[in-house]
Amino acid sequence: MKLIFLGPPGAGKGTLAAKASPLFNAPHISTGNIFREAIAAGSPLGNKVKSIIDAGKLVDDATTIELIRERLAQNDVKNAYILDGFPRTIAQADALAGFSKVDTVINFDVPDNIVIERLSGRLVCRKCGFNWHKNFNPPKDGKTCDKCGGEIYTREDDKSEAVKKRLEVYREQTAPLIEYYRAKGLLVDIEAGSQVDITLENLKKALSCK
Ligand code: AP5
Repeated sequence: MKLIFLGPPGAGKGTLAAKASPLFNAPHISTGNIFREAIAAGSPLGNKVKSIIDAGKLVDDATTIELIRERLAQNDVKNAYILDGFPRTIAQADALAGFSKVDTVINFDVPDNIVIERLSGRLVCRKCGFNWHKNFNPPKDGKTCDKCGGEIYTREDDKSEAVKKRLEVYREQTAPLIEYYRAKGLLVDIEAGSQVDITLENLKKALSCK
């Protein structure tokens, strides 16, 4: 199954994709994670995108499209994948249609107040990238990852000014994809303001009906 996970920042796309990936045998591809790994490695791509991401803006379409075009050419994603965070603009969606046929687009619907609550409390492991949360899913000592012992940090783009910008960018550039994919008959809406396991169950039900 070839899936796109669409939704505002903090909708839970990454959290749900990590849980759904083994269930559907579909590799999880997150453009945000790819960019953050490049930044951590200090690669030319990382140096190019760091200030853009920290400010909550979008990386340019040409760079992002090329990244995904190359990733989707690999063998492990021939039959299935979950795209988390791509496409994010109409231009990216048009480009994707030219090199891969998506089966279903999930639109995770979450109100702004929940988004802000989730992002302002997010804690990320520097080593394995796992997303913890200060209140909803805290690591035991608040400082180290219970999964791998890595250091916990707060993403620069989870600070309030950048979150405001990300929501603005989402509304202007990404939200139009909802109607874009609805018109193609590919969209499934899922209410994602509840607990993770409830949303995961709703996702499984929605996909088994397809
Ligand atoms: P990216 O990493 O994709 O950021 P995002 O879309 O803003 O997504 P988030 O990671 O903030 O949210 P999420 O929906 O995955 O939620 P999560 O599961 O983490 O992109 C970062 C940046 O990279 C972009 O701003 C842009 O600059 C660049 N970029 C990426 N893709 C691009 C593209 N295609 N084009 C151009 N630029 C691109 O959950 C958030 C928190 O909430 C966590 O702490 C989690 O534990 C908690 N949580 C999740 N679900 C629940 C729940 N149900 N209940 C309680 N807590 C929950």
